Amino acid sequence: MNTAQFIPEILSETIEHVIFTWQTPSNIALVKYWGKINPQIPKNASISFTLSKCHTLTTIEFSKKEKTSEVDFELFFEGKEKREFRPKITEFFKRVQEYCPYIFDYKMIINSENSFPHSSGIASSASGLSAISMCLMSLEHQLNPNLTKEFINKKASFLARLGSGSASRSIEGPIVVWGDHPTIKGSSDLFGIQFPYKVHSVFENYQDAILLVDKGEKQVSSTVGHHLMHQHPYAENRFQQANENLSKMKEILQNGDVKAFVNLVESEALTLHAMMLTSAPYFVLMKPNTLEIINRIWAYRKENNSAICFTLDAGANVHVLYPESEKESINQFIENQLSIYCQKNHYICDTVGYGATQL
Ligand code: DP6
Repeated sequence: MNTAQFIPEILSETIEHVIFTWQTPSNIALVKYWGKINPQIPKNASISFTLSKCHTLTTIEFSKKEKTSEVDFELFFEGKEKREFRPKITEFFKRVQEYCPYIFDYKMIINSENSFPHSSGIASSASGLSAISMCLMSLEHQLNPNLTKEFINKKASFLARLGSGSASRSIEGPIVVWGDHPTIKGSSDLFGIQFPYKVHSVFENYQDAILLVDKGEKQVSSTVGHHLMHQHPYAENRFQQANENLSKMKEILQNGDVKAFVNLVESEALTLHAMMLTSAPYFVLMKPNTLEIINRIWAYRKENNSAICFTLDAGANVHVLYPESEKESINQFIENQLSIYCQKNHYICDTVGYGATQL
């Protein structure tokens, strides 16, 4: 695997002090990543919609200093120093230091905030780590002005992946593939790429309403969850199935077959949870309200001949996916019939988006 391409050769410029701010989105997987090997290599390829409203805003102030053997950073979240986030970010810097040796030359003050409420059950690692990665790449770009935008995005995704696998899919949009796949041109285990084929118009501006069923801490961290796939009796079949599903999804996204889309997306979500139900130890991540919502969605789809469907990540919240053409009626359905199953009636209406933006 060609990781050498990400080790910088000449950094011609000297920068004393600089500040960068990036806004990067969360994403929702249609074909799920669940299972990995070191260093952050997925056991199967995955594909996601990039979101737009659910994002992280991160500013990093870089001040040049004497080179030290430790990475020197301060971390603030929503204006307050966050000691509990330090281990994850320290580990991230450790994993990227070979590719970003310049981080030892700077003191970094990191300020971060999410557009979605803290502890909403929405994973912030994807947007959080992609935002830090974009800030690092902005510094690298100033140190080496020859870098192309294409390389910057590729390396940012590569770095983000080392922090959190799904973060590799939060640099670009609207649809990103991460993981080497025989039928997706240019796909790689090392970084996410934009889905390289023309997408049918029905999938443009797709809607994702995130129903916040359980705002608590995740019952199982992704790291633990991925690890459970190592001794899982169904793991090999699952990885093969995911890759086959990605081949099917590739066709569906091009031909606009929404019935097949609904089927595949819901099956992926339930399979992810089936992996949890059948691991050792086992977990039930859905809540009674998750199932209530799923049943209501199925009934609505039947009654209205709708393309509404759901997906789940590793938690109880439900992502409701639907085409923009049904936005008005489905938003009403959510407000009138689904919001009662959400904590404090709380849900977030998001739309597919276009990736990282510099502010
Ligand atoms: C269920 O990317 O959070 O959301 O690489 O350990 O940080 P780490 O895991 P993470 O796993 C995401 C799992 C998922 C499915 C997906 O997003 O593909």
